[in-house]
Amino acid sequence: MGKLTGMIAAVTGGASGIGEATVRRFVAEGADVAFADRDAERGQRVAAEITAAGGKVLFVEADVGKEAACLGFIKQADARFGRLDILVNNAGIRMYQTVVDASAESWDDILAVNLKSYAYCAKGAIPLMRRSGGGAIVNVASVRSVIVGGNSIQYDTAKHAVAGLTRGLAMDHGPEGIRVNAVCPGSIFTPFHARRLQAAGKTVAEYNADAASRTMLKRPGTAEEIAACILFLASKDASYVTGTLLFVDGGMTSM
Ligand SMILES: NC(=O)c1ccc[n+]([C@@H]2O[C@H](COP(=O)([O-])OP(=O)(O)OC[C@H]3O[C@@H](n4cnc5c(N)ncnc54)[C@H](O)[C@@H]3O)[C@@H](O)[C@H]2O)c1
Repeated sequence: MGKLTGMIAAVTGGASGIGEATVRRFVAEGADVAFADRDAERGQRVAAEITAAGGKVLFVEADVGKEAACLGFIKQADARFGRLDILVNNAGIRMYQTVVDASAESWDDILAVNLKSYAYCAKGAIPLMRRSGGGAIVNVASVRSVIVGGNSIQYDTAKHAVAGLTRGLAMDHGPEGIRVNAVCPGSIFTPFHARRLQAAGKTVAEYNADAASRTMLKRPGTAEEIAACILFLASKDASYVTGTLLFVDGGMTSM
């Protein structure tokens, strides 16, 4: 029996990287999973692969930067599966510029996806979790929820705010049996990094060397290693864990 047998989960940004690994791991652990992404081609491909292997998933094409899309996604998950036990807020984008160069639009975009979508999906999910007596929300934050760097002040600001949102939601909804936690990944090699390396003309070996210099474990992590920790926080194994930030960073923030 899987750790999530009989449970229903919703995951944002589930077509790639950490989100995709989470969807696949949750299904392997017995959950039925609804996942949203703005990348329809990738989302449909992931859904088709999982369905062909016997898993139950619903892919919803959505831009979670908008409140209506978040609420619509959660509503579709409920309509398809009839309840919701777990929400994983994972969709994220990055921007590399100082506040001097950042436009008002870029602030709106990054806060809409990396912060507000987490609140809007929670807004949709919490009434459903209440209905069935509890649930678990896992927010994908970052080491950048507590440290800064890499010319990404907008990303770092949004991730710091996700830490606050996580603790605030845990406080407000703990009495209803809803646990809210965050995972804070360090350097995790995902399609995002593959695209960025290509754009910068850098190699994977250079990426690995950089991760080695900034971690105790001397290597980058994998999306599957993050999904394993999201699974822990989402599952009954973490029944007394709420309001916490779990660093999954090879020791980066302790160095
Ligand atoms: N990879 C890392 O090193 C790392 C480290 C710390 C935190 N994180 C966080 O992990 C999460 C996932 O990152 P990843 O590395 O897997 O990236 P990724 O780019 O591989 O995946 C992100 C997914 O989110 C989707 N997405 C982005 N904006 C969206 C929107 N408006 N609506 C719907 N879907 C949208 C993308 O299409 C993509 O499928 C992000 O929140 C990121 O900040 C990643």
